[in-house]
Amino acid sequence: MASPFRSDILKGKVTLITGGGSGIGFEIATQFGLHGASIAIMGRRKQVLDSAVAALRSLGIWAFGFEGDVRKQEDASSVVESTFNNLGSLDILVNAAAGNFLVSAEDLSPNGFRTVMDIDSVGTFTMCHQALKYLKKGGPGRNSLTGGTIINISATLHYTAAWYQIHVSAAKAAVDAITRNLALEWGADHDIRVNGIAPGPIQGTPGLSKLAPEEINSKIREDMPLYRIGEKWDIAMAALYLSSDAGSKTLWSRLLELQKVNL
Ligand code: COA
Repeated sequence: MASPFRSDILKGKVTLITGGGSGIGFEIATQFGLHGASIAIMGRRKQVLDSAVAALRSLGIWAFGFEGDVRKQEDASSVVESTFNNLGSLDILVNAAAGNFLVSAEDLSPNGFRTVMDIDSVGTFTMCHQALKYLKKGGPGRNSLTGGTIINISATLHYTAAWYQIHVSAAKAAVDAITRNLALEWGADHDIRVNGIAPGPIQGTPGLSKLAPEEINSKIREDMPLYRIGEKWDIAMAALYLSSDAGSKTLWSRLLELQKVNL
């Protein structure tokens, strides 16, 4: 599909994407790269990172892969540093790394619950925290007026309830809370724009193949208002909009402005 955006909309922007080697994260890496951004992707598996970087470079995208686990603070720190050192700045952080598996609450061990909370929720906060130094206005590689951007990928499971995904629902609810609170604090203090995207089922992702085997995909389609499952491209375009200058007047920044007016 043709992009509705100009191909240079992210020219000069350095983007770090966790979980950028596959699924939604890889599509965001691809589309951001095709719209002018330089790309760093972070993931646990070297082979996945290597082939993702090769695919991005074959499209003419300036891309690097950095191994790391968002659950480890030292990895988060070294990947953020490597991004800055190799690409010269850090303008956009996309938290797309996630862990997932289907299991009933009865069969899920507390450690299984904690594992997904650690990846999705604590991992998202840790990455944001490590990147703050570079994203805040006046940070290294940045002018004194304009901060960077954070996009957190969550889900819609926790809006109601979802079978066999209590751990993921709890983790994504926490991600949404992190997004709102950072939007408030870091928007006001550091001019960092923080937004979230909550995809429903997206085809061609490890998440969907794990959580909804092909036999129940047709049922999901019937439940969708558009009678189709979302595509990775849809999410990448939303992320592109929110990261661009056009997205700078989004809901949260408008709310902040209103709050400032009301103070
Ligand atoms: N069902 C039930 N429990 C499970 C499980 C499953 N399918 N997979 C892991 N767990 C539990 C383990 O039993 C363990 O708990 P225990 O110590 O009480 O037994 C705990 O989770 C940690 O398991 P472990 O295998 O050590 O975790 P890990 O860190 O190696 O990897 C995931 C866990 C979730 C990250 C792994 O499934 C994974 O790599 N997923 C790929 C990423 C992904 O799912 N992407 C899609 C995003 S939507």
